[in-house]
Amino acid sequence: MMTKINEAVAFIQNIYKDEPVVGIVLGSGLGNFAKEITVEKEIPYGDIPHFPVSTVEGHSGKLLLGELSGKKIVAMAGRFHFYEGYNMQEVVFPIRVMKFLGIKTLLLSNAAGGVNPKLRVGDLMIVTDHISQLTVNPLIGKNYKELGTRFPDMTEPYKKDLINKVKNIAIAKGIKLQEGVYLGVTGPTFETKAEYLMIQAMGGDAVGMSTVPETIAAVHMGLAVFAMSIITDLGIRGDDETPITHAEVLAAAKEAEPAFSHIFKELVAQL
Ligand code: HPA
Repeated sequence: MMTKINEAVAFIQNIYKDEPVVGIVLGSGLGNFAKEITVEKEIPYGDIPHFPVSTVEGHSGKLLLGELSGKKIVAMAGRFHFYEGYNMQEVVFPIRVMKFLGIKTLLLSNAAGGVNPKLRVGDLMIVTDHISQLTVNPLIGKNYKELGTRFPDMTEPYKKDLINKVKNIAIAKGIKLQEGVYLGVTGPTFETKAEYLMIQAMGGDAVGMSTVPETIAAVHMGLAVFAMSIITDLGIRGDDETPITHAEVLAAAKEAEPAFSHIFKELVAQL
């Protein structure tokens, strides 16, 4: 594992000499945020040793290296999901590589289904905490001391000071933000009506198919994590039996993108 990480890092550092301090993962429908980045180097995942290759529509599958808000950053345009068939070590591999490229802070974004009735389609939700449900923990297996401790503490996976910064950014710009608990599932099915109700009963405000493994791997390595969900569909909607589609998820994410972009840009400026 460490050899693979080191080989991927060496490959990237051979192409891009600067040290990124922030890592960003762009979720479903948020690929356009890449336009905000002054991209200096762009590396398709397929070129990087040991990187899995993303297959989902709405994910372009490349590593972007460059500048955002005056900071050197590395961004993943497209991420790896467990439902694509990768194992959890593969899902979190790029997060580990970004850590060894030098990042101190990881910003995650995702599309999520709302289960708390206060949520509306298009809302931005600060992830204050998560519930790992039906996902395999990415730290199962040999623990690599170079990455972190065997039993990582998860009291504050999403850093309060980052959350407070984002709240202030949103207030200053008049952006309405929600906050809540993200419950992670494997997908790829959207949930049944009974499952959405179960998720609500368990304490989830929103549900999605990513983020939790990445956060766990990042916290393991001591990174400061911030995550934001875009609510792209509502799981609990009474008698409304309209099916949820991936196209609808992408469209809702796109709509929320200007507010999302402002927040991520400002947050990076303040790091
Ligand atoms: N459930 C799970 N994952 C999702 C959803 C959902 O409703 N919407 C976007 N990702």
